[in-house]
Amino acid sequence: MNFKNDTKPIVCVQGMGFVGLAMATVVANTFDQNNHPLYNVVGIDLPQKESLVEKINKAQLPFITEDKSFAIELQRAVLKNKNFTASTDENLLSLADIVIVDVHLNILKIFAENNLEYNFDRRPFEQAIRTLGRLIKKDCLVIIETTVPPGFCKNVVEPILKDEFGKRKINSTPLIVHSYERVMPGKEYLSSIRKYFRTFAGIDKKSSKLGRKFLTSVIDTKQYPLKQEDYTEASELAKILENSYRATNIAFIYEWTLLAEKIGVNLFSIIEGIKYRKTHSNIMKPGFGVGGYCLTKDPLLALWSEENFYNLNYGLPFSLKALEVNHKMPLHVIDLILEKTKLEGKKVAILGISYREDVGDSRFSPAKVLFEELLKYDGLKCSVHDPYINSWSEVPDAHFIKSISELIKYDIVVLATRHNQYLNIRKRSWLSFLKDRSLIVDANNILDDIKIKYLLVNKIDVIGVGKGHIKRMKNKI
Ligand SMILES: NC(=O)c1ccc[n+]([C@@H]2O[C@H](COP(=O)([O-])OP(=O)(O)OC[C@H]3O[C@@H](n4cnc5c(N)ncnc54)[C@H](O)[C@@H]3O)[C@@H](O)[C@H]2O)c1
Repeated sequence: MNFKNDTKPIVCVQGMGFVGLAMATVVANTFDQNNHPLYNVVGIDLPQKESLVEKINKAQLPFITEDKSFAIELQRAVLKNKNFTASTDENLLSLADIVIVDVHLNILKIFAENNLEYNFDRRPFEQAIRTLGRLIKKDCLVIIETTVPPGFCKNVVEPILKDEFGKRKINSTPLIVHSYERVMPGKEYLSSIRKYFRTFAGIDKKSSKLGRKFLTSVIDTKQYPLKQEDYTEASELAKILENSYRATNIAFIYEWTLLAEKIGVNLFSIIEGIKYRKTHSNIMKPGFGVGGYCLTKDPLLALWSEENFYNLNYGLPFSLKALEVNHKMPLHVIDLILEKTKLEGKKVAILGISYREDVGDSRFSPAKVLFEELLKYDGLKCSVHDPYINSWSEVPDAHFIKSISELIKYDIVVLATRHNQYLNIRKRSWLSFLKDRSLIVDANNILDDIKIKYLLVNKIDVIGVGKGHIKRMKNKI
């Protein structure tokens, strides 16, 4: 890397994970009117992430994604324009004009008796901020993209930076912006950053002005204007409220799923009709459960903030109930199977361990909740398949099915994630992959009614989450 004789501003992205690498790639692929890159970008991660950094520097994506433009843009920045490099050397942060913080901040939910408790580990994030305080230039803009509890920039980030500035005898106040990510790993990975609305807030006027200038240069703000809040607390709250709303919306449909199944109706069809009303267009469909790094934890960050910064005990009962319901949702698959057959001694395959379609991210995946529960049945053997994941870091011992054709050995097949690969399997192929008289559980609306009917006619039993009408289909065959 040699940015020395180059006048382009240097943007360091701290944390080369699912968000940081995507953001760094987008920033490195931001061009001026003459098609010259606007920024030099340095991605920083921890010393133990040397192999990740090496991969990035060879322009190789460390995960599989359906967004083809991601690999192309990474190659363009690393190999062609040479304005993006990754490193484990934190000292490079001292070169930054702007630092974007995409480090994780973990809060783990713990179900204790009837109470939802949490374990909040602030250390890695606070350590990252302290590193910035030790190294950055006094006029470097720090943009926090990490999802943080409301009040964190004011009560944690600013004091840490000031403390470290003080040790270096720097009198000026740190420049801080909070601007949360809405990145959607999947087919639109990069464009969900570049072509999407952004909320942001600066800790003071100067920070806000610099933040607006930077975000305007990177994001298509003509089509997707920025939403500026006056205080960082507002931007922080917005992110958590947004995710809690979605988590609650998903949980809401669960009880209706159970009812629809008992009544024997197709809830997907009902929802399609309800969605015609504009006011109801974002009603959620039944599904396998909620996973990923955000929706499973973000309401807890608000709870922590309530208790620790604002001395309140409202408790956010609605949002927390949603977390609980969503966590248990994948276990409904077991109830459905038990209505049909016992589980002891069975061979079960779970198709899709990623929490989201067309991406290889298994963090807090509902498949893990189901997998672990299934193993409690005597003699049951459970294997998993995912076109985007070769080894399951959360369940290292899990047996992987390498090819769908191996399903012929299984008694029960659970379709868990709506990966394109599964949606594209034709009805005749399904039949050829499945064991005679096996049971297929469509937990995420992967089979349409034509496929379901074909399988039923050919002696494959099918049940589905939210698909009470399958019983009626069977009666007609
Ligand atoms: N994944 C998503 O879809 C998504 C979407 C929107 C927002 N977010 C939020 O973005 C943040 C990051 O999420 P993620 O999914 O990228 O997490 P991640 O775990 O994939 O990445 C975090 C990275 O930060 C690195 N890191 C930790 N401490 C560091 C330090 N001191 N210096 C440099 N690097 C350090 C880790 O090694 C890791 O590679 C979280 O707050 C998350 O809630 C995530």
